Amino acid sequence: MANQSLLLYLIFSLLLLLLLPSSYQTPEPATPRLSVAHTELTNYGFPVGLLPSDVSAYSINATSGEFSVDLAGACRITLPPDNYLAAYSKRIKGRIVRGKIAHLDGIRVRAFFSWWSITGIRASGDNLVFEVGSVSAKYPSKNFDESPACEGRQHSAS
Ligand SMILES: *[C@@H]1O[C@H](CO)[C@@H](O)[C@H](O)[C@H]1NC(C)=O
Repeated sequence: MANQSLLLYLIFSLLLLLLLPSSYQTPEPATPRLSVAHTELTNYGFPVGLLPSDVSAYSINATSGEFSVDLAGACRITLPPDNYLAAYSKRIKGRIVRGKIAHLDGIRVRAFFSWWSITGIRASGDNLVFEVGSVSAKYPSKNFDESPACEGRQHSAS
């Protein structure tokens, strides 16, 4: 009898494990792993997708807007819509005010066979403007509505 109920319990637990994740996603579309840093991004008028999902620490000086975001480790992400490869350092720093991130340090994109540091990001209507020095590129903000997961960390630079 005891064995039987144990078996039932195990089967039931297994079913729960299989069923829960999908039933959780239906009523709650927001990613559950979003951090304070992600919420702050939206407070400043930016989409959460600018940061990977695995933020481990965050601090901001509310007076100057100087911020620092720590990730679990350096990581790579493929950015929509043109599939640029972006490399995030373990620590990302910059200065944020509403609609504008400047003095950015820690995010690089690969284009034209080399890596370029993104120095600033501006929110402009429905678009995000990425600045690489004096050059800029505009992308629809809606491409960044979801916080991406980091891709394999141990990929060598290529
Ligand atoms: C925050 O920034 C202000 C203005 O730059 C500065 O005076 C202050 O010392 C900073 N606070 C901290 C805790 O760094």
